[in-house]
Amino acid sequence: LNTVKHSLMVNLGANSYPIYIQAGVLEHLGLLVQQAGLGPNVLLVTNPTVGGYYLVPAQRSLEAAGLRVSVATVPDGEEYKSLEWASRLYDAALEARLDRRSPVVALGGGVIGDLAGFVAATYLRGVPLIQIPTTLLAQVDSSVGGKVAVNHPRGKNLIGAFHQPALVLIDPVLLRTLSQREYIAGMAEVIKYGVIWDGDFFAYLEEEIARALQLDTEVTTRVITRCCSIKAKIVEQDEREYGVRTLLNLGHTVGHAIEAITGYQAYRHGEAVAIGMVAAGLLAVELGWWEKSDCERLNQLLTRTGLPMTIPGVDPNRLLELMQHDKKVLDGTLRWVLPRKLGEAGVVSQLSDDLVLRSLRRIILDR
Ligand SMILES: NC(=O)c1ccc[n+]([C@@H]2O[C@H](COP(=O)([O-])OP(=O)(O)OC[C@H]3O[C@@H](n4cnc5c(N)ncnc54)[C@H](O)[C@@H]3O)[C@@H](O)[C@H]2O)c1
Ligand SMILES: [Zn+2]
Repeated sequence: LNTVKHSLMVNLGANSYPIYIQAGVLEHLGLLVQQAGLGPNVLLVTNPTVGGYYLVPAQRSLEAAGLRVSVATVPDGEEYKSLEWASRLYDAALEARLDRRSPVVALGGGVIGDLAGFVAATYLRGVPLIQIPTTLLAQVDSSVGGKVAVNHPRGKNLIGAFHQPALVLIDPVLLRTLSQREYIAGMAEVIKYGVIWDGDFFAYLEEEIARALQLDTEVTTRVITRCCSIKAKIVEQDEREYGVRTLLNLGHTVGHAIEAITGYQAYRHGEAVAIGMVAAGLLAVELGWWEKSDCERLNQLLTRTGLPMTIPGVDPNRLLELMQHDKKVLDGTLRWVLPRKLGEAGVVSQLSDDLVLRSLRRIILDR
């Protein structure tokens, strides 16, 4: 096979790029890199978990296309998304003799994508980045849109850049080795797209959630394609998050606070976002923004997906405090993304603490 057709384009002028979404597309990595005119050297960044499954096919495909591959393996874990590991990757890039046309290939979940992406954005003031996302979260969210970052001891993603990839390759088959828990957590972001942007997609999920959870290739391919196409449209309108891109933060205000209050241990990001979406939904109903029946449809879909919707025994005041410290709080006002319809959301600020606390209490279970 020497023609692989892209599924989507992200149109950003000189920074435009194709997304390939297809079972088995990993085999064509070398060919696609070559067709994009990139090389001759490649720095492939992965971790031992993902690399254990997919390094050999990725490397083989690149080498078959005549590319010289250097592999850098980062330990598995969010704590390695750091400046220290970025610095080690700069060393690897120098050793691999990467020049301005030689790509960094990120083979892994959002951690590898963000870290390798940060290195690609900064090494030689920017070299091409190829994203091969391997978690559902990375396939529908972090690999598209150009946000790259490392963590700082004082907070997550505080050091970063916008650096759009040159190419995104999404192989839904890779999700088969992902744990059920990681997969379900990623579904929270999938459901989010339905709520903020696309009511028909939400209805499709209601219909096909069982097949999606069984990793039916046809369904997962459609789901991923729809999510990436929504994200592409949003990023095309607002690359740097001054406007509509904010909507992608539905559920994240409360979600980030839940992650922080539990020391980033108890919940996967998507699980915290699911609980956050429930809180946002309750708030929207209280404000008269949203029909109660739509709120119930969301809660039902989250339940059927197997996502958590409540959190046991935390102090709602503490949760509120953490939200007010989130880095996205510009000039001290908390900005909430709330649903208006299934398929439409808006932003509101200056909700009273009382109102917010009332909704928070409803997602907190007594211990
Ligand atoms: N840049 C963005 O726009 C953006 C958006 C959302 C999240 N993020 C970032 O993404 C990160 C979270 O990403 P994540 O949820 O993908 O976590 P992750 O990268 O840590 O992956 C989760 C786990 O799954 C394993 N894994 C990955 N793919 C696998 C596969 N196919 N088979 C078996 N195991 C596999 C990983 O080794 C890891 O243990 C966070 O650092 C977050 O800040 C970035
Ligand atoms: Zn998220």
